[in-house]
Amino acid sequence: MAPIISIRNLTKTYNNGFQALKGIDLDVERGEILALLGPNGAGKTTMISIICGIANPSGGEVLVGGHDVVKDFRATRSMIGLVPQELTTDQFETVWNTVSFSRGLYGKKANPAHIEKVLRDLSLWDKKDNMLRQLSGGMKRRVLIAKALSHEPEILFLDEPTAGVDVTLRKDMWHVVENLRAAGVTIILTTHYIEEAEEIADRVGVINGGELLLVENKASLMAKLGRKQLILELVEPLRELPEAFAGNGLTLAADGNRLVYDFDAENDQNSVAGLLTRLGEHNIHFKDLSTQQSSLEDIFVALVGGAK
Ligand SMILES: Nc1ncnc2c1ncn2[C@@H]1O[C@H](COP(=O)(O)OP(=O)(O)O)[C@@H](O)[C@H]1O
Ligand SMILES: [Mg+2]
Repeated sequence: MAPIISIRNLTKTYNNGFQALKGIDLDVERGEILALLGPNGAGKTTMISIICGIANPSGGEVLVGGHDVVKDFRATRSMIGLVPQELTTDQFETVWNTVSFSRGLYGKKANPAHIEKVLRDLSLWDKKDNMLRQLSGGMKRRVLIAKALSHEPEILFLDEPTAGVDVTLRKDMWHVVENLRAAGVTIILTTHYIEEAEEIADRVGVINGGELLLVENKASLMAKLGRKQLILELVEPLRELPEAFAGNGLTLAADGNRLVYDFDAENDQNSVAGLLTRLGEHNIHFKDLSTQQSSLEDIFVALVGGAK
């Protein structure tokens, strides 16, 4: 099936000459959850703004549902729900009116039953007659999500949805996301919380300095770039690592009680057995062993050089 979003050689240079996007190519499949991971200033919001038709590209092409986002703005924008990074709401309007009005902006017929469902899903129903200025920051964020869902979009963008959000809202939000995914909605979220991407995304894109460094299925990304560590708790502490083991990814922890072996999860499977045999030959015995896989966080830091 044709991708729902297709981005070719997208560039963006702001008026002050700053190049925020340097040739992005990306296809988003219908129904997937894609997490765009990147440090502040990477270009995430710029990219989303262009896809949503809020900002103009400097070069390249973006198609949404086969339509060009510049030439066919109305068609593409109505397919998209956007939960912006910044809280922007009309303070003197009620929750119900704000969300219902938002639906109307996309030329959709009124559908009170849908608005009610959205408000209930986001635990906003008992606040429907409140003015927005009476709501807490977390509640306002819920309203932004409700607005984004008011016109039943096929694609939902969540731009750093959980920055500064409490645990309850975060849980509610992921529950809503799960339901939307089940209904076939395509979801693109930006975050610099790696655990979040790790938890809910099907694919992860890493963006830094206006470039998309990679986009990959989460599992294969972890397998490809992931390192594994074997940790051996020693029976007797060692004062130093024997010469024979120097420089092979093996390190002795400071207290001398454990050895840590870093290895490539894909290619070095056999080296673990070899290491254990050699340790035995040197009379180094262990009482316990465990392995751990490097997290998406480790991978991310390695890719963007710790620029978070
Ligand atoms: N209107 C603007 N004019 C000039 N530079 C901008 C403008 N908006 C964003 N930028 C710059 O573009 C870069 C990318 O910003 P942004 O897309 O907001 O990144 P992110 O969302 O990944 O944090 C940043 O360096 C930012 O300062
Ligand atoms: Mg941003």
